[in-house]
Amino acid sequence: MITTTAVLTLALLSGSVSGLSTKDGSGRLPALGWNSWNAYRCDINEAKVLSAAKQIQTLGLQDAGYEYINIDDCWSIKDARDPTTQRIQPDLTKFPRGINGLVDELHGMGFKVGIYSDAGTKTCGGYPGSLYFEDIDAATFAEWGIDYLKYDNCNVPSSWPSDEYHNCHPDYNHPSGPNNTCIGDPKAAPPGYDWTTSNTFKRFKRMGDALAKQNRPILYSLCEWGQAAVETWGSQIAQSWRVTDDIFPYWAKVVHIITYSQHLLNSVDFFSHNDADMLDLGNGNLTLAESRTHFAIWNAMKSPILIGTDLAVLKPQFVDILRNKVLLQFSQDKDIGTPATPFKWDYTAPAEYWQGGFGNGERLVLMVNYADTTARKSVNWGEVKGTEKGRGYVVTDGWTGKSSCVKNTLSGDIEAHDTGVYVVGRRCH
Ligand code: GAL
Repeated sequence: MITTTAVLTLALLSGSVSGLSTKDGSGRLPALGWNSWNAYRCDINEAKVLSAAKQIQTLGLQDAGYEYINIDDCWSIKDARDPTTQRIQPDLTKFPRGINGLVDELHGMGFKVGIYSDAGTKTCGGYPGSLYFEDIDAATFAEWGIDYLKYDNCNVPSSWPSDEYHNCHPDYNHPSGPNNTCIGDPKAAPPGYDWTTSNTFKRFKRMGDALAKQNRPILYSLCEWGQAAVETWGSQIAQSWRVTDDIFPYWAKVVHIITYSQHLLNSVDFFSHNDADMLDLGNGNLTLAESRTHFAIWNAMKSPILIGTDLAVLKPQFVDILRNKVLLQFSQDKDIGTPATPFKWDYTAPAEYWQGGFGNGERLVLMVNYADTTARKSVNWGEVKGTEKGRGYVVTDGWTGKSSCVKNTLSGDIEAHDTGVYVVGRRCH
């Protein structure tokens, strides 16, 4: 058992603690796991969740680090709380052993378990929400052995008026910010506005306070879709926070999320993660190339990685993406909490070139091709931190595992919508 002091010492030794630490260190690194929503929406039950957990073991994903099994919306009885205890009641037709029975089994399999609720009177699916019941619900979740709470933002009653100001699209602070939704908006937040005075902050803090009173650490994952500039305060009450609206399984949506999230990366560090939403890899019409980009950028940004598909029917090449060692190593680096960030970029279009550091001194470089045909992408030494113009460096291709000595310029012919993933290592001749 690791003590709080040990975790803090560890975190201090190995870099900054940017976010709110948990007693057992959970949430220090981006969460890796599975969530029911993108695969099943409301059509969930114990068998589906257990089957996902078993697949995660069989496919070697648990060994690769995937540890959370998260139940999303629609797990409870829709109409009422228990009249005596006021607790949310699990739907026993979907979860015959209750949530705690399933949690016990999943814990026995070596997983942690997540549940879902909402900072309004009802969830987005219309099930009981936790507003005004935060203490009861946090205590119930703790008693059931829950390790992770995703907390949504639907059905906010009129007694909690909308925030006074509008949030701007995050490219607002760049002169060319063409998407700046605040230009000409009289309700745009003034520069430097303190969003912790907003009602959104207050509603989400209520549950954070309730979780902090429990006798077990519960990773707190905000899902308010990036409203109220959550990236400026999320780390005061939680370990991760969604920064955009919902993902859908098509390329334009993946690009949209990248285009938005790429501006917000200063808020990412240990215990402090922008959540680009759950993976849609395996769903809809996302191709292999598009899924590689989706997975590469999500890991590069150190977003939580929550698989959202039916693993029993997922094709092996997609499973290989989910097991990619280089990208998972980057996401789960114990010594560096900051994400990869764009370079050679004009601040407006989705960034093609990304780089970040591994704790062992190597560099991760991504080259993304957003075009609809194959394109050659290149980076010169000197543009990657720690490299010098004109030298040679050992480069390992993150998809094939092949290494070679690359002189002067790293180039790749990247397929449409695909991403080249490279590890830049020691000098070579
Ligand atoms: C949305 C949320 C989704 C999912 C859904 C459940 O607000 O962004 O990820 O949780 O609610 O109804």
